[in-house]
Amino acid sequence: MDLGDIIIRPWASGDETQLAENANNIKIWKNVRDRFPYPYTLKDAALWVRIASHDRSMLNLAIEYEKQAIGAIGVIFKNDVYRHTAEIGYWLGEKYWGKGIMTRAVLALTDYVFQHYEVRRIYAGLFEYNQASARVLEKAGYHLEARLAKNVTKNGKTVDELIYTKLRE
Ligand SMILES: CC(C)(COP(=O)(O)OP(=O)(O)OC[C@H]1O[C@@H](n2cnc3c(N)ncnc32)[C@H](O)[C@@H]1OP(=O)(O)O)[C@@H](O)C(=O)NCCC(=O)NCCS
Repeated sequence: MDLGDIIIRPWASGDETQLAENANNIKIWKNVRDRFPYPYTLKDAALWVRIASHDRSMLNLAIEYEKQAIGAIGVIFKNDVYRHTAEIGYWLGEKYWGKGIMTRAVLALTDYVFQHYEVRRIYAGLFEYNQASARVLEKAGYHLEARLAKNVTKNGKTVDELIYTKLRE
């Protein structure tokens, strides 16, 4: 996906250093699942670049800006009775926050998934304190659908999870 100054594309060999540099941030880790490592080493980055494209139940993509891989965005396609549903997730290197980049990326990937897959509903689950992500989703046309009380235990605290959803028109 070419958005002009932003390109959303598969991870590629050569991205490892930029990935480790941008991902290694506790402010990112506090807002994502525990399987996302902290510290995020070059070894973690190399493993991710190797496996990111191999699972067909997911789209794992890099966000490229100024010729650098500055963040990630992806969807997980659900199965069984949830087969028309997908979950979206993303993070961005801190240097690039506040420029509207993720809003544009979420809008573009959401449209792409609705156009190219049999998906009718895309949702994101965010930790209750993540106001930046809530704002990104609102700006990208998602709406707050549910609050799952005490559904997330992160960094020693149990908090609510907010479910933001967008349906195919
Ligand atoms: C969430 C994240 C992806 C946002 O990326 P971004 O490119 O900076 O987002 P945008 O610039 O498109 O929009 C951010 C919006 O949040 C707002 N915002 C940022 N911090 C905020 C805060 N603490 N409280 C309220 N609003 C906040 C910004 O003002 C902006 O809204 P505006 O355009 O109305 O001013 C980025 O902060 C990040 O990677 N965070 C850590 C990982 C993460 O949270 N991932 C998502 C897990 S659900």
